[in-house]
Amino acid sequence: MDKAQQIKKIEALVKDYFVEESTGHDWWHSHRVRKMGLHIAKEEQADVFIVEASALLHDVGDYKFHDGDEEIGGKIIEKWLLEIAINREDIDRILNIVVNLSYMKSLKNNDQPFTIEAKVLNDSDRLDAIGAVGIARTFAFGGFFKQEIHNPEIAPNLSMTHEEYKNKKSTSINHFFEKLLRLKDSMLTKSGSKIAQSRHEYMENYLNRFLDEWDGIV
Ligand code: ADP
Ligand code: NI
Repeated sequence: MDKAQQIKKIEALVKDYFVEESTGHDWWHSHRVRKMGLHIAKEEQADVFIVEASALLHDVGDYKFHDGDEEIGGKIIEKWLLEIAINREDIDRILNIVVNLSYMKSLKNNDQPFTIEAKVLNDSDRLDAIGAVGIARTFAFGGFFKQEIHNPEIAPNLSMTHEEYKNKKSTSINHFFEKLLRLKDSMLTKSGSKIAQSRHEYMENYLNRFLDEWDGIV
């Protein structure tokens, strides 16, 4: 099987896995991260196959949907990659990126050096959480978890630990202040930073307008 066929197989497995998911964590998220990953990989001279495979697989077995189990994703992915007969070296590179990505996403301090492919994935995933699509995903996620859109009586908590972040209930608007407005400063590639800046500005404009409308300012 050549690499293009391997990608097709991965794509089919991921599509099947995410069928009927509606928290903004779905097949189309994987698809967008793949597109962005390919774009940034080319600009940053990263390995395109590794980035594409990792992008498709990166949210499989997310801990939020498996009772907090942070290990399960790696196990499912390894089983799939072995079935598709991807070579051991590539499997390890892909697993490494996907596992690193959840470390990077978490608020744990981690000073491990990341490969360029891991950096590309980090940025592509985070870029999908900001800008117009990011706004839609935030409210979709909030609705799914029965979280309020906004509640001015609940202040954003700007210094959450990893555990608080995993367990705490907030509002969707607070999520912008607690996480999304900080993402532009956590980009790991130059290309990612540039795109993040413009999506960040779009999101800021949106929030200003939202809060004005909330207060009856026309
Ligand atoms: P990913 O795994 O794709 O990096 P997350 O798992 O952190 O993203 O979240 C998936 C989507 O749901 C993102 O767009 C994120 O901003 C949104 N989201 C995560 N937590 C919350 C929350 N507490 N309130 C609203 N939206 C959230
Ligand atoms: Ni993701």
